[in-house]
Amino acid sequence: MSIRLLPPEVINRIAAGEVVERPASALKELVENSLDAGAGQVSIRLLAGGLEQIEVADDGSGMLPDAMRLAMERHATSKLPEDAIDRVTSFGFRGEALPSIASVSRFILESRVRGSDGWRIELDHGDRLGEGPAALPPGTRIRIQGLFDKVPARRKFLRSPRSEYAACLDVVKRLAMARSDVGFTLDHDGRRILTLQPTDAPTRVAELLTHELDRHGVGIDCVRDGVRLTGVVSLPTFNRGMADQQYLFVNSRPVKDRLLVGALRAAYRDLIARDRHPIAALFLEVPLEEVDVNVHPAKTEVRFRDPAAVRGLIIGGLRQALDEESRRSAAREQAAAPVMWTSSASYALEPHLGSGIAAVREEQQAFEPVTFVPHARAERAVEPVPSYPLGVARGQVAATYIVAEAEDGLVIVDQHAAHERLVLERMRAAREGGSISRQSLLIPEVVELDEPDCDRLDTAAGELSDMGLEIERFGPTAMLVRAVPAALGKTDAKALLSDLASEIAELGGPLSLKEKLDHVAATIACHGSVRAGRILSVAEMNALLREMEATPRSGQCNHGRPTWVKLGHSEIEKLFGRK
Ligand SMILES: Nc1ncnc2c1ncn2[C@@H]1O[C@H](COP(=O)(O)OP(=O)(O)OP(=O)(O)O)[C@@H](O)[C@H]1O
Ligand SMILES: [Mg+2]
Repeated sequence: MSIRLLPPEVINRIAAGEVVERPASALKELVENSLDAGAGQVSIRLLAGGLEQIEVADDGSGMLPDAMRLAMERHATSKLPEDAIDRVTSFGFRGEALPSIASVSRFILESRVRGSDGWRIELDHGDRLGEGPAALPPGTRIRIQGLFDKVPARRKFLRSPRSEYAACLDVVKRLAMARSDVGFTLDHDGRRILTLQPTDAPTRVAELLTHELDRHGVGIDCVRDGVRLTGVVSLPTFNRGMADQQYLFVNSRPVKDRLLVGALRAAYRDLIARDRHPIAALFLEVPLEEVDVNVHPAKTEVRFRDPAAVRGLIIGGLRQALDEESRRSAAREQAAAPVMWTSSASYALEPHLGSGIAAVREEQQAFEPVTFVPHARAERAVEPVPSYPLGVARGQVAATYIVAEAEDGLVIVDQHAAHERLVLERMRAAREGGSISRQSLLIPEVVELDEPDCDRLDTAAGELSDMGLEIERFGPTAMLVRAVPAALGKTDAKALLSDLASEIAELGGPLSLKEKLDHVAATIACHGSVRAGRILSVAEMNALLREMEATPRSGQCNHGRPTWVKLGHSEIEKLFGRK
């Protein structure tokens, strides 16, 4: 076969394969072009999720007819003055979006520079159909019809108008958050979906995410080594089953970068269950020379010169903000007089009585069914109640919940969730203080595991030993346990090791040692905690309550659920119709 240069139409089709995957990606390119053209207002109209038609109109600079013709050529761009590919400040810079899209659709470009007449160019799958004068206000209007209609290989992968529309909406939201100073409208099938006036970033984010973040979010603003991180993230208790509400920006460019997503996850690690996700809008401002945006045709990923520093800033900044917020809310709880159904994680229960009760019931059902005759034990209320925020233990219900009397109401504590948190915080404090105490086993325990798991534990043995867990390889498929962290008490070593092995496998990635240790500590803590179903003495219950009061973050278990709830006196009175 002889070698030849491909004709431009084919080159464009190939580029279209990378740049335009579905209507949402074409839409993204058009809106980015409008923003690059200095638009103050961008109006988007979609038909059938963009499959039938995508129209983007802006009031930006517009183009003269010659520029319009050039814009439809490959590698034609106005955006790289001095060819400075290492200092890109615009969304576009590759000069290929328009010809790529035009090669797989019917394409109508209209544009008008202020002070001159409008012009129109039409193409059909890359072929020039014609051009002529057009009537439009200054700016540019582009219409794409029948995207991929003649590219069956692509068409096949498109989904229903509904899901294509969802992807388009996501694109618009991301760009609208990136540029809160620009106004946007979005219409779908003739219906107005969004009207966004120019505003500041926090207002725009609140409009597009949820106003609930006013109450359940934490503002972020930190700087390190010339890199700035701002935005808002949800409290660990305000989470979602999908990671779909995470909006990340690097120098105002929306990105879906693995490093950033990973850092966000890591920041919430032991605060939130593994299958739950925080809501976040985070804006990273990085000096231009520290970041390369030219690593992905669709420009949704970036490469940092110092990825570890960026990761550290995100994890550190978020952790600090979340910790401070949890201290603040703990203080608020303690000071609060007129409490409703409150909980340390106050969103979990609506401040509405009926749903509060329902939520508590649900929690109860989440535990293994109680197979024994329920036995609640009570202490006589003789002594006056000292002013402990979590009160004095009065009894235990279903061998799972501690019921305590506080000055201002009735407190119910989930003993397992609470204790797990305490063990983790204790281990963490001991590690930071460099004083882990360990308990040697009189007879070392042999735990059989499969070989890869043993390999994993073997490599981590040094770190685990720093945490008080001493293990040793014992043949290809077994480990010897010599000592366990004293905080743990009696444990099922086999279950602990196999959980740790899978934890280590999962953390294999680019986590720092400290983060890994945090996870491992959380896993160990879970094993060391008082299980639901264990009968506690009154002294044990009170000790748990006092330790919770003294421990940071004790209002949430390691999975982000509340560890206690409070029923205020006035609420009890309401329940009995006294108020
Ligand atoms: N809405 C618009 N208003 C004014 N000029 C535009 C508009 N859209 C495109 N252009 C001009 O057309 C050129 C080509 O656009 P195109 O999107 O193909 O490439 P690009 O934006 O330069 O780079 P990339 O391929 O990375 O998007 C742009 O550089 C710009 O000069
Ligand atoms: Mg572009």
